Amino acid sequence: MRISYTELEARVRGMIKEKRFLHSEGVVSVSRMLAERFGLSPDDAAYIGIYHDAYRYSCDESTPAFCREHGIEVFPEEESEPMLLHGALAAIHFPEDAGGSVPDHFRIAVRHHTLGHKEMGPYGAILYIADYMEPGRKHLDDDDRRRILSGERLEDMIITIMDMQNAYFRREGIKSAAVSDELYGFIRSGGTL
Ligand SMILES: [Fe+2]
Ligand SMILES: [Fe+2]
Repeated sequence: MRISYTELEARVRGMIKEKRFLHSEGVVSVSRMLAERFGLSPDDAAYIGIYHDAYRYSCDESTPAFCREHGIEVFPEEESEPMLLHGALAAIHFPEDAGGSVPDHFRIAVRHHTLGHKEMGPYGAILYIADYMEPGRKHLDDDDRRRILSGERLEDMIITIMDMQNAYFRREGIKSAAVSDELYGFIRSGGTL
């Protein structure tokens, strides 16, 4: 049997820095709100949200090989910046940290929360959105948050976020990951998560 949300929360608290833990709590509150709004399980969304960054400080140059050994496809951007694989590490360790098996949609959501993926599912979409806009994120103001939440569907919110993020990337001279561009194109051409 899986441990409770409260037990998982206590475990995660011991795994990450206080600031990251507070971010995770913010992700939980936005995730619960979105799950309620779209008829999904707020409890599932919270369980995923509190855990998503548990391995944020655990990646090193051995992580890509470790992920591949566990059957996870590693994208080129993750190969060159292993920190991006903290969601993949969380997906691998989720059952052992939760003390029992977790549904596939939990693992898929945490796996893809950083770069996004067209197969991340509705819980992945919720996590992606909540991770970007939780109240502790200082790069957004109230107008930005309203604009994201004005989307009628989770997919619309993701497009708004990716447009904001791509504008930022352009300013900074950062290239977006191919898997993120693929998600963007997928939604733009009518795909649903
Ligand atoms: Fe993360
Ligand atoms: Fe996060």
